[in-house]
Amino acid sequence: MTSSHTIKARKTLDKIQPYSPGKPIWEVQKELGLDRVIKLASNENPLGPSPKAVAAIQNGLAELNRYPDADASALKKAIANKFQVTPQQVITTNGADELITLISEAFLEAGDEVIVPSPSFSEYDFGAHIMGATVVPVKFKEGFEYDVDALLAAVTEKTKIIYICTPNNPTGTYIPKSDLDTLVEAIDNVLVVIDAAYDHFADAADYTNGVEYINAGQSVVTLETFSKIYGIAGVRVGFGIAPESIIQSILKVKEPFNVNTLAQIAATAAIEDTEHVQTSQETNKAGREQLYKAFKDLGLTYVESMANFVLVQLGEDGEELYKQLMANGVIVRHGKIWDLPDYIRVSVGTTEENQFFIDVLKGLLVKQA
Ligand SMILES: Cc1ncc(COP(=O)(O)O)c(C=O)c1O
Repeated sequence: MTSSHTIKARKTLDKIQPYSPGKPIWEVQKELGLDRVIKLASNENPLGPSPKAVAAIQNGLAELNRYPDADASALKKAIANKFQVTPQQVITTNGADELITLISEAFLEAGDEVIVPSPSFSEYDFGAHIMGATVVPVKFKEGFEYDVDALLAAVTEKTKIIYICTPNNPTGTYIPKSDLDTLVEAIDNVLVVIDAAYDHFADAADYTNGVEYINAGQSVVTLETFSKIYGIAGVRVGFGIAPESIIQSILKVKEPFNVNTLAQIAATAAIEDTEHVQTSQETNKAGREQLYKAFKDLGLTYVESMANFVLVQLGEDGEELYKQLMANGVIVRHGKIWDLPDYIRVSVGTTEENQFFIDVLKGLLVKQA
């Protein structure tokens, strides 16, 4: 029998850092013996899931002896209606995370280059690395604004994919439509993946999720998720919109039953729940303002956000303050994972959760002074 130690994993896996998720509430509660813990670390919907999605799941339980619809036809139709595209231009996945992996599997050869804004969502690097492709990070300009010239300068003959996360996680900044027009026009034979996971929160007039490029036949994929505004992160549904030929290639690497029955049912109901979407947008907008005001009062520098989180600079004690926030029952993300150790990223919660966070932070800063 061969010992398990002699079985070598693929070399490219050495480059992969495991994804670091936000700590769950129960774990922090248990570890620190706290009664109250709030989680503002994973950009979830603080109002809970779409009530329509919850009701639809309850009604769908009796059918669980059946395999899911491999084509997710009802969900794809609902998405197509919402985005004014055809169902053939839509693919549904087990969270947007899976779509990033599938895009990587469908389009990347070993040695290809993938341009990734830096700092941004870590799954783009993961997708590139599992395929043996090279990540080419491109830094943001001052204020974490997109640098289109730098992105274009990074394109080489080996470039296969450019990721544009807009609004960008973790900075909350977005790429204005005119800059995205320039980028999409300027490049050939490169797939532009526009990650619009947070698009419902972007209220700038010159914001776009890029669906118009797809309708114009450009090689663009718009990536979306049900985990943020729709509040159903727990059932895992994401989707992509792209020209049909691109969708066909991605479908070749997809598992047949990648989106489970309850997820399909929940997402189909959630996308029609305009009341929940609108309330979530209003809550988020008010919550961002609440946080901005508090940060100004505390003399802290923050990045204006088009998403449901805010990046705020705490200075050289960033890591200590992050730990102290946790010790006081507030889970946020420390910026170390994005090479921003002076910063934390805080998700926008309910008014009351935001206030709890602000009060704890204020107390810590006063103690420090
Ligand atoms: C920018 C971005 N894209 C994609 C995702 C993944 O979403 P999902 O929960 O659908 O896998 C996230 C999740 O945090 C994200 O921040």
